Amino acid sequence: MKWDFEDKVAVVTGAGKGIGAATARGIAEGGGRVAVLDVDADAGRAVADELGDAGRFIELDVTDRDGIPAAFDAVAARFGGIDILVNNAGVVTRHTIANMPPENWDRTMSINLTAVFDCTRTALPHLKARGGGAIVNVCSVSGYRFSLIGGVDYTSAKWAVRGFTRQSAYELAQYGIRVNALCPGPTLTPLVEGSMSPEEIARAAGNFPLGEWVDPKDVANGALFLASPASRMCTGIDLVVDGGFLLVGAQSIEEYMDARGDAAG
Ligand SMILES: NC(=O)c1ccc[n+]([C@@H]2O[C@H](COP(=O)([O-])OP(=O)(O)OC[C@H]3O[C@@H](n4cnc5c(N)ncnc54)[C@H](O)[C@@H]3O)[C@@H](O)[C@H]2O)c1
Repeated sequence: MKWDFEDKVAVVTGAGKGIGAATARGIAEGGGRVAVLDVDADAGRAVADELGDAGRFIELDVTDRDGIPAAFDAVAARFGGIDILVNNAGVVTRHTIANMPPENWDRTMSINLTAVFDCTRTALPHLKARGGGAIVNVCSVSGYRFSLIGGVDYTSAKWAVRGFTRQSAYELAQYGIRVNALCPGPTLTPLVEGSMSPEEIARAAGNFPLGEWVDPKDVANGALFLASPASRMCTGIDLVVDGGFLLVGAQSIEEYMDARGDAAG
Protein backbone atom coordinates (compact mmCIF):
# COMPACT_ATOMS: atom_id res chain seq x y z
CA MET A 1 0.00 0.00 0.00
CA LYS A 2 1.27 3.49 -0.87
CA TRP A 3 0.77 6.49 1.41
CA ASP A 4 0.97 10.14 0.37
CA PHE A 5 4.12 11.89 1.57
CA GLU A 6 4.57 14.26 -1.36
CA ASP A 7 6.53 17.36 -0.23
CA LYS A 8 7.01 15.93 3.26
CA VAL A 9 10.29 15.51 5.11
CA ALA A 10 10.61 12.87 7.80
CA VAL A 11 13.17 12.05 10.46
CA VAL A 12 13.16 8.39 11.49
CA THR A 13 15.38 7.38 14.41
CA GLY A 14 16.80 3.85 14.38
CA ALA A 15 15.97 3.62 10.68
CA GLY A 16 18.91 1.37 9.84
CA LYS A 17 17.01 -1.84 10.54
CA GLY A 18 13.68 -3.44 11.30
CA ILE A 19 10.59 -1.30 11.79
CA GLY A 20 12.44 2.00 11.27
CA ALA A 21 13.93 0.86 7.96
CA ALA A 22 10.54 -0.37 6.71
CA THR A 23 8.97 2.97 7.72
CA ALA A 24 11.70 4.98 5.97
CA ARG A 25 11.17 2.94 2.79
CA GLY A 26 7.41 3.50 2.93
CA ILE A 27 7.76 7.26 3.33
CA ALA A 28 10.12 7.42 0.35
CA GLU A 29 7.76 5.24 -1.73
CA GLY A 30 5.01 7.77 -0.95
CA GLY A 31 7.09 10.62 -2.39
CA GLY A 32 8.60 11.91 0.86
CA ARG A 33 12.20 12.51 1.81
CA VAL A 34 13.66 10.74 4.80
CA ALA A 35 16.54 11.32 7.17
CA VAL A 36 17.77 7.94 8.34
CA LEU A 37 19.21 8.42 11.82
CA ASP A 38 21.03 5.52 13.42
CA VAL A 39 23.97 4.73 15.66
CA ASP A 40 24.82 1.83 13.34
CA ALA A 41 26.50 3.64 10.45
CA ASP A 42 26.71 0.65 8.08
CA ALA A 43 23.06 -0.26 8.44
CA GLY A 44 21.84 3.34 8.29
CA ARG A 45 23.92 4.22 5.26
CA ALA A 46 22.70 1.13 3.41
CA VAL A 47 19.05 2.11 3.91
CA ALA A 48 19.68 5.74 2.90
CA ASP A 49 21.57 4.57 -0.20
CA GLU A 50 18.58 2.45 -1.22
CA LEU A 51 16.40 5.57 -1.13
CA GLY A 52 18.67 7.56 -3.47
CA ASP A 53 17.99 11.32 -3.49
CA ALA A 54 15.04 10.81 -1.13
CA GLY A 55 17.28 9.50 1.64
CA ARG A 56 20.00 10.98 3.81
CA PHE A 57 21.92 9.11 6.48
CA ILE A 58 22.99 10.91 9.64
CA GLU A 59 24.91 9.02 12.27
CA LEU A 60 23.37 9.74 15.66
CA ASP A 61 23.20 8.06 19.01
CA VAL A 62 19.84 9.31 20.29
CA THR A 63 21.25 9.42 23.84
CA ASP A 64 23.67 12.12 22.68
CA ARG A 65 21.54 15.03 23.90
CA ASP A 66 24.00 17.62 22.61
CA GLY A 67 24.29 15.98 19.19
CA ILE A 68 20.57 15.88 18.39
CA PRO A 69 20.07 19.57 17.43
CA ALA A 70 22.92 19.46 14.88
CA ALA A 71 21.45 16.33 13.30
CA PHE A 72 17.98 17.90 12.97
CA ASP A 73 19.45 21.17 11.65
CA ALA A 74 21.35 19.16 9.02
CA VAL A 75 18.09 17.49 7.91
CA ALA A 76 16.31 20.84 7.63
CA ALA A 77 19.25 22.34 5.72
CA ARG A 78 19.32 19.43 3.30
CA PHE A 79 15.57 19.02 2.68
CA GLY A 80 14.17 22.48 3.54
CA GLY A 81 12.36 21.63 6.78
CA ILE A 82 10.93 18.80 8.87
CA ASP A 83 7.27 17.67 8.91
CA ILE A 84 7.40 14.23 10.52
CA LEU A 85 9.31 12.66 13.39
CA VAL A 86 9.22 8.91 14.00
CA ASN A 87 10.74 8.15 17.40
CA ASN A 88 11.59 4.54 16.69
CA ALA A 89 15.09 3.75 18.02
CA GLY A 90 14.88 1.22 20.82
CA VAL A 91 16.72 -1.61 22.52
CA VAL A 92 15.77 -4.69 24.52
CA THR A 93 17.74 -6.98 26.83
CA ARG A 94 16.66 -9.99 28.85
CA HIS A 95 17.09 -9.66 32.58
CA THR A 96 15.15 -10.28 35.74
CA ILE A 97 15.03 -7.47 38.31
CA ALA A 98 17.48 -9.48 40.38
CA ASN A 99 20.13 -9.89 37.70
CA MET A 100 19.78 -6.58 35.83
CA PRO A 101 22.84 -4.35 36.18
CA PRO A 102 21.57 -0.86 37.15
CA GLU A 103 23.47 0.56 34.15
CA ASN A 104 21.26 -1.60 31.93
CA TRP A 105 18.15 0.06 33.38
CA ASP A 106 19.70 3.50 32.76
CA ARG A 107 20.63 2.66 29.17
CA THR A 108 17.17 1.34 28.28
CA MET A 109 15.54 4.40 29.81
CA SER A 110 17.82 6.80 27.97
CA ILE A 111 17.29 5.20 24.54
CA ASN A 112 13.66 4.07 24.81
CA LEU A 113 12.26 7.00 26.79
CA THR A 114 14.50 10.02 27.36
CA ALA A 115 15.48 10.22 23.68
CA VAL A 116 11.78 10.47 22.77
CA PHE A 117 11.64 13.66 24.86
CA ASP A 118 14.91 15.00 23.47
CA CYS A 119 14.07 14.34 19.82
CA THR A 120 10.55 15.73 20.27
CA ARG A 121 11.69 18.98 21.84
CA THR A 122 14.38 19.36 19.16
CA ALA A 123 11.88 18.72 16.35
CA LEU A 124 9.32 21.19 17.70
CA PRO A 125 10.64 24.46 16.21
CA HIS A 126 11.08 22.71 12.86
CA LEU A 127 7.51 21.37 12.86
CA LYS A 128 6.10 24.70 14.02
CA ALA A 129 7.94 26.45 11.19
CA ARG A 130 5.99 24.23 8.75
CA GLY A 131 2.67 25.09 10.41
CA GLY A 132 2.25 21.62 11.94
CA GLY A 133 3.34 18.05 11.59
CA ALA A 134 3.11 14.50 12.86
CA ILE A 135 5.04 12.64 15.52
CA VAL A 136 4.85 8.86 15.80
CA ASN A 137 6.26 7.27 18.95
CA VAL A 138 7.02 3.61 18.47
CA CYS A 139 5.83 2.07 21.70
CA SER A 140 4.92 -1.63 22.17
CA VAL A 141 2.22 -3.97 23.38
CA SER A 142 4.53 -4.12 26.42
CA GLY A 143 3.09 -0.66 27.09
CA TYR A 144 -0.28 -2.37 27.57
CA ARG A 145 0.75 -5.53 29.35
CA PHE A 146 4.36 -6.58 29.96
CA SER A 147 7.23 -7.80 27.85
CA LEU A 148 7.74 -11.45 27.03
CA ILE A 149 11.09 -10.59 25.45
CA GLY A 150 12.47 -7.80 27.64
CA GLY A 151 12.42 -6.95 31.33
CA VAL A 152 10.99 -4.32 33.67
CA ASP A 153 13.19 -1.64 32.11
CA TYR A 154 11.64 -2.16 28.68
CA THR A 155 8.07 -2.38 29.94
CA SER A 156 8.45 0.68 32.17
CA ALA A 157 9.86 2.76 29.32
CA LYS A 158 7.07 1.74 26.94
CA TRP A 159 4.29 2.52 29.43
CA ALA A 160 5.97 5.91 29.89
CA VAL A 161 6.07 6.53 26.14
CA ARG A 162 2.30 6.06 25.99
CA GLY A 163 1.91 8.65 28.74
CA PHE A 164 4.33 11.00 27.01
CA THR A 165 2.32 10.61 23.81
CA ARG A 166 -0.99 11.49 25.48
CA GLN A 167 0.27 14.61 27.19
CA SER A 168 2.30 15.90 24.28
CA ALA A 169 -0.66 15.33 21.93
CA TYR A 170 -2.77 17.64 24.11
CA GLU A 171 -0.02 20.23 24.45
CA LEU A 172 0.96 20.31 20.76
CA ALA A 173 -2.47 20.15 19.10
CA GLN A 174 -2.59 23.97 19.28
CA TYR A 175 0.30 24.06 16.79
CA GLY A 176 -1.27 21.56 14.40
CA ILE A 177 1.16 18.88 15.56
CA ARG A 178 -0.36 15.43 16.01
CA VAL A 179 1.33 12.92 18.32
CA ASN A 180 0.38 9.25 18.29
CA ALA A 181 1.77 6.00 19.63
CA LEU A 182 2.27 2.88 17.57
CA CYS A 183 2.24 -0.32 19.61
CA PRO A 184 3.66 -3.31 17.75
CA GLY A 185 3.35 -6.82 19.02
CA PRO A 186 6.38 -9.08 18.71
CA THR A 187 7.77 -8.39 15.24
CA LEU A 188 10.44 -10.32 13.38
CA THR A 189 13.28 -7.82 13.30
CA PRO A 190 16.97 -7.99 14.28
CA LEU A 191 15.88 -6.88 17.78
CA VAL A 192 13.91 -10.12 18.24
CA GLU A 193 16.30 -12.30 16.26
CA GLY A 194 19.11 -11.11 18.53
CA SER A 195 17.30 -11.98 21.74
CA MET A 196 15.38 -15.20 21.02
CA SER A 197 16.64 -18.56 19.76
CA PRO A 198 15.30 -19.88 16.42
CA GLU A 199 13.41 -22.55 18.40
CA GLU A 200 11.77 -19.95 20.62
CA ILE A 201 10.86 -17.87 17.57
CA ALA A 202 9.26 -20.87 15.85
CA ARG A 203 7.37 -21.86 19.00
CA ALA A 204 6.15 -18.29 19.60
CA ALA A 205 4.39 -18.16 16.23
CA GLY A 206 1.61 -20.14 17.94
CA ASN A 207 0.97 -17.18 20.27
CA PHE A 208 -0.48 -15.04 17.50
CA PRO A 209 -4.20 -15.59 16.86
CA LEU A 210 -3.59 -14.54 13.24
CA GLY A 211 -1.12 -17.43 13.03
CA GLU A 212 2.20 -15.77 12.26
CA TRP A 213 4.73 -13.27 13.52
CA VAL A 214 4.16 -9.62 12.72
CA ASP A 215 6.34 -8.43 9.84
CA PRO A 216 8.17 -5.05 10.01
CA LYS A 217 6.15 -3.94 6.98
CA ASP A 218 2.89 -4.53 8.90
CA VAL A 219 4.11 -2.23 11.64
CA ALA A 220 5.45 0.30 9.13
CA ASN A 221 1.96 0.50 7.61
CA GLY A 222 0.72 1.66 11.02
CA ALA A 223 3.50 4.25 11.25
CA LEU A 224 2.76 5.46 7.72
CA PHE A 225 -0.93 5.87 8.51
CA LEU A 226 -0.17 7.86 11.67
CA ALA A 227 2.42 10.02 9.88
CA SER A 228 0.29 10.71 6.80
CA PRO A 229 -2.68 13.01 6.18
CA ALA A 230 -4.89 9.89 6.22
CA SER A 231 -4.86 10.19 10.04
CA ARG A 232 -5.39 13.97 10.10
CA MET A 233 -8.00 13.76 12.88
CA CYS A 234 -6.09 11.28 15.06
CA THR A 235 -4.00 12.54 17.93
CA GLY A 236 -3.11 11.03 21.29
CA ILE A 237 -4.15 7.53 20.19
CA ASP A 238 -2.41 4.17 20.43
CA LEU A 239 -2.50 2.03 17.31
CA VAL A 240 -1.86 -1.63 18.07
CA VAL A 241 -0.41 -3.81 15.29
CA ASP A 242 0.06 -7.20 16.90
CA GLY A 243 -1.58 -10.06 14.99
CA GLY A 244 -4.03 -10.36 17.90
CA PHE A 245 -1.24 -10.92 20.42
CA LEU A 246 -2.96 -8.84 23.13
CA LEU A 247 -6.06 -11.02 22.88
CA VAL A 248 -4.28 -13.99 24.37
CA GLY A 249 -1.95 -14.77 27.22
CA ALA A 250 1.58 -16.11 26.96
CA GLN A 251 0.46 -19.46 25.61
CA SER A 252 -0.17 -20.99 22.22
CA ILE A 253 -3.66 -21.55 20.90
CA GLU A 254 -2.99 -25.32 21.29
CA GLU A 255 -2.31 -24.89 25.00
CA TYR A 256 -5.31 -22.57 25.27
CA MET A 257 -7.66 -25.04 23.58
CA ASP A 258 -6.24 -28.10 25.32
CA ALA A 259 -6.86 -26.53 28.72
CA ARG A 260 -10.51 -26.24 27.71
CA GLY A 261 -10.77 -29.83 26.48
CA ASP A 262 -10.78 -29.00 22.77
CA ALA A 263 -8.33 -29.06 19.88
CA ALA A 264 -7.07 -26.11 17.85
CA GLY A 265 -8.26 -25.84 14.24
N1 LIG B 1 10.59 -6.09 17.18
C1 LIG B 1 9.64 -6.15 18.10
O1 LIG B 1 9.17 -7.23 18.47
C2 LIG B 1 9.09 -4.89 18.71
C3 LIG B 1 7.88 -4.99 19.39
C4 LIG B 1 7.35 -3.85 19.98
C5 LIG B 1 8.02 -2.65 19.86
N2 LIG B 1 9.19 -2.58 19.18
C6 LIG B 1 9.86 -1.30 19.13
O2 LIG B 1 10.06 -0.93 17.79
C7 LIG B 1 11.22 -0.10 17.71
C8 LIG B 1 12.14 -0.64 16.62
O3 LIG B 1 12.48 -1.97 16.98
P1 LIG B 1 13.05 -3.02 15.93
O4 LIG B 1 12.48 -4.32 16.32
O5 LIG B 1 12.90 -2.53 14.55
O6 LIG B 1 14.58 -3.01 16.40
P2 LIG B 1 15.93 -3.28 15.57
O7 LIG B 1 16.95 -3.64 16.59
O8 LIG B 1 15.67 -4.21 14.47
O9 LIG B 1 16.25 -1.84 14.99
C9 LIG B 1 16.46 -0.76 15.87
C10 LIG B 1 17.42 0.23 15.26
O10 LIG B 1 17.65 1.25 16.25
C11 LIG B 1 19.03 1.54 16.25
N3 LIG B 1 19.42 2.06 17.56
C12 LIG B 1 19.56 1.38 18.72
N4 LIG B 1 20.02 2.18 19.68
C13 LIG B 1 20.18 3.40 19.10
C14 LIG B 1 20.64 4.64 19.59
N5 LIG B 1 21.06 4.79 20.85
N6 LIG B 1 20.67 5.69 18.75
C15 LIG B 1 20.27 5.55 17.45
N7 LIG B 1 19.84 4.39 16.93
C16 LIG B 1 19.79 3.33 17.75
C17 LIG B 1 19.71 0.21 15.95
O11 LIG B 1 21.03 0.40 15.47
C18 LIG B 1 18.78 -0.38 14.91
O12 LIG B 1 19.16 -0.03 13.60
C19 LIG B 1 11.83 -0.08 19.10
O13 LIG B 1 11.43 1.09 19.77
C20 LIG B 1 11.24 -1.30 19.75
O14 LIG B 1 11.17 -1.19 21.16
C21 LIG B 1 9.73 -3.68 18.60
